[in-house]
Amino acid sequence: MTPTVLILNGPNLNMLGVRQPEVYGSETLSGIEAACRSHAGRLGLAVDFRQSNHEGELVTWLQEARGRVAGIILNAGAYTHTSVAILDALLVAETPTVEVHLSNIHKREPFRAHSYVSSAAVGMISGFGGHGYLLALDALAHILSAHIVSKDSGKTT
Ligand code: DQA
Repeated sequence: MTPTVLILNGPNLNMLGVRQPEVYGSETLSGIEAACRSHAGRLGLAVDFRQSNHEGELVTWLQEARGRVAGIILNAGAYTHTSVAILDALLVAETPTVEVHLSNIHKREPFRAHSYVSSAAVGMISGFGGHGYLLALDALAHILSAHIVSKDSGKTT
């Protein structure tokens, strides 16, 4: 069965293309979704791509990810910097997660430098625009294949 990656986008990411182009560029979220789908296909992964402006909906989707998907790519938008609930939901999901930000959050206002999500993620990709989602898919494909190999060889990860 093809492993599925849940790609979850938080508030205001539906406005990409219109929203602060000097920070986020001209890419739209549907353009990023299309690029993710074709890249995931090349990696042998399926994609479940979602966006919500509502914290509780993101929490519910992360809870439902537990045991359902092989990996998660999360751009929680502004909730990155505020949401203990999203951190807790990631801990419930117990699924390898790559945190993504289009902009380099360390080059911006100081309040963006702290992420609640990071402590539950394998790693973070920040500052490469929409290409960061493809880098995150590469990272997950690597993690998942390493996991399968180590399981086959009887080693634990
Ligand atoms: C963002 C960075 C956040 O600080 C911001 O609130 C966003 C987008 C990014 O992708 O660069 O909404 O997550």
